[in-house]
Amino acid sequence: MSEHPSNGSRALLPGQVKSWLGIVAFVLVAVAVLAFAFVAIRPATNSDRDRRTAQKALRADTESKAKALLTAPAKNADGSYRLPVADAMAVIAANPKVLSDMRKSAAVPAPAPASDSAAFVKADDEQMKRGLAVYSRTCIACHQPTGKGLAPVFPSIAGVPIVNGDTTLPIKFILHGLMGPVTVDGVTYNSMMPPVAGVSDQDIADVLTYVRQSFGNKSNPVTADQVKAVRAANAARTAPWNTAELGLK
Ligand code: HEC
Repeated sequence: MSEHPSNGSRALLPGQVKSWLGIVAFVLVAVAVLAFAFVAIRPATNSDRDRRTAQKALRADTESKAKALLTAPAKNADGSYRLPVADAMAVIAANPKVLSDMRKSAAVPAPAPASDSAAFVKADDEQMKRGLAVYSRTCIACHQPTGKGLAPVFPSIAGVPIVNGDTTLPIKFILHGLMGPVTVDGVTYNSMMPPVAGVSDQDIADVLTYVRQSFGNKSNPVTADQVKAVRAANAARTAPWNTAELGLK
C-alpha cells in the first residue's frame, strides 16, 4: 500500500523532467538554427552596403585626424612644429586629399621672399603637385609641413639662402646627405641629413622646385637634366657631404 504513492510519484517525476528537458532542448536548437540562418543570410544581402558604410566612416575618421595633425600639429615651446614621423607618413598615405589641405596650410608667407633671380619663372602646376608629393614622402618629417623645420634639430628651408641659391648644393645633399655645422636663421645645426633614398632625377627636380616656390621662397624651377648632371659628376661618391666642403657656414 505504501508502495503505490511512491511508485506513482517516481514514475511521474522523471516523465515531467524528460518533457521539460525536451522542450528546453527544442527551444535551444530552434534558437540556434534561427540565429545561424540570420547570420548566414543577412551578410549575403547587406554586406556590400555595410562594407561601404564602414569604409566611409573609417575614411572620414582618418581624414579628420590627418587634417588635425597636418593643419594644427603640436607646437613646441619655441613655436616650432612637432609632427611625429610615423603620424605624418601614415596620414599622408591614408588620403591624398590631405596633401591639398596641407599645401594650403603650408603656404605661410615668409616676411621677405627670397629669390635667386630677377627673371622669375613660375613652375607649372603639375610639377608643383608632383613636388608636393615627393616633399610629403621624403622631407616633411624633418623640415615639417611649414618648411620651418624644428629648431634646433632640423633647420628651416623657408626663406633661407641655401634653398634659394645655387641648386647644385641641395641636389648634392639630397643625393648623398649632409653633415657638419651650418647656421640657419641664427641657429647653428650640427647634425646629419641622411641621403634621400629612392628618388629619381625628376623627383629631386620636382621637390626642389616645390620647395623653391613654397614657404615664401621665390626661386626658379629645377630640371631633371640639372639633377642628372650633378648625379653623374658625383657618381663615385658614397660619403655624405660636409658643410665645410660645400662652403656652407
Ligand atoms: C631625417 C631628417 C631629414 C630629412 C628627411 C631631410 N632633411 Fe634636410 N636637413 C636635415 C638636417 C638635420 C639638416 C642639417 C644638416 C647639418 O647639420 O649639417 C638638413 C639640411 C637641409 C638643407 C640645408 C640647410 C637649410 O636649412 O637650408 C636643405 C636645403 C634641406 N635639408 C632640404 C631637404 C629636402 C628638400 C629634403 C627632402 C628631399 C630633406 N631636406 C630631407 C634633416 C633632414
